[in-house]
Amino acid sequence: MLLYKGYLDIEVDPSLDLFEEINYLKKEKNAVILAHYYQDADIQDIADYIGDSLGLAQEAQKTKADIILFAGVHFMAETAKILNPAKKVLIPDLKAGCSLADSCPPEAFAAFKAKHPDHIVLTYINCTADIKALSDVIVTSTNAVQIVESFAKDQKIIFAPDKNLGAYINKKTGRNMVLWNGTCMVHEIFSLEKLVKLKTINPNAKIIAHPECEEKILANADFIGSTTALLNYTKKNEGKEFIVLTEPGIIHQMQKASSDKIFIPAPPNNNCACNDCPHMKLNTLKKIYIALKHEQPELLMEKALLEKAKLPIVKMLELSTKFGL
Ligand code: 13P
Ligand code: SF4
Repeated sequence: MLLYKGYLDIEVDPSLDLFEEINYLKKEKNAVILAHYYQDADIQDIADYIGDSLGLAQEAQKTKADIILFAGVHFMAETAKILNPAKKVLIPDLKAGCSLADSCPPEAFAAFKAKHPDHIVLTYINCTADIKALSDVIVTSTNAVQIVESFAKDQKIIFAPDKNLGAYINKKTGRNMVLWNGTCMVHEIFSLEKLVKLKTINPNAKIIAHPECEEKILANADFIGSTTALLNYTKKNEGKEFIVLTEPGIIHQMQKASSDKIFIPAPPNNNCACNDCPHMKLNTLKKIYIALKHEQPELLMEKALLEKAKLPIVKMLELSTKFGL
C-alpha cells in the first residue's frame, strides 16, 4: 500500500514568474526536478534532467539533491523513492497514474505468476511497486531486448504488463515469453488507417514508433525504440520529416535538437486531434511550484514494500551498466 502525505490546491498569485520562483526554490531547498519526455514543454524547460524511464532511474540513483520533484507519473516517482528511501520525493499531482500500470493488479498478477512456477518474472518498469515486488528483474524499453537475451534460450519467462512490448521482444529475440494482457492507453490507439494516409501525403517522412504500439503499427515503422532512442534517431538520421508514434511531448526535444526538421504527431483512432497521455499532462508548472514550496504532495512508501521492490530495480541498473546503457 502506498501512502501520500498532503494534497494542496492553493491559489497562486498570477503575477508570479513561475520559472523564477521554481528556480529559486530548487536552489534554496537543494531540490532537483526530474522530468519525462512526455511532460509539457515548459516543464521540460525547467527540469534539471529530462529522459526516458531508464535515464530517469539512473539519474535518481545518483542524485545528491535532498528533494526529488518527479514530473512524470506515479511508477516513475516510486522508482525514485525506492532508490532513495531517505530523500523526500515530491509529485506535482497525486492523480498522475498510468493505464498500463493499472492494467496489472497485484492479486491477479500473483495468481498468474503462481500458474507458472518454473518461470522467472521480467517486468516492464511501467508497473506499481507491488508488481515490482513480485518480479525478478525490471526492464525498460531501452534495455528490454538485451536483458531478455542475457538469459539462457530455454529460460521460461513471464513478461508483464505490456503485451505489445512483450510481443515485440519475443519477435526480436525469438523467445516465447508468457505475456500479461496489459496495454498503454496512448500507444494502443494509434490508427493504422490514418497512419497510411499520413504517409501517402508525406511520402518522404520516416515512421518512428515506440514498442508499446500494436504490432500492425510497428510493422510499418522505419525505426522502433524507446523515447531516447527515437530522439537520437531523429538527430542522426538524414531524413527531414518524421511521423512520430509515441506521446507527442517528445517532439519538444526533437524540434529543439533539429530545428530544420518536421515532426508530425500521428493521430489516434478517435476524434481527438492529438494523442496526449492524460496522466502525464496532469502536471503543470503551477503544481510544481506549489509542491516545491510546501514540500507536498510527498510520496511515502512502506519499508517492506520498498525493500522488496528495490531488488529487481537494482538488478536492472546493474545489467544496464554492464551493457553500457
Ligand atoms: P520510455 O520513455 O522509457 O521509452 O517509456 C515510455 C513510456 O510510456 C513512459 O510512460
Ligand atoms: Fe502510462 Fe502510457 Fe501514459 Fe506512459 S504514456 S504513463 S505507459 S498511460
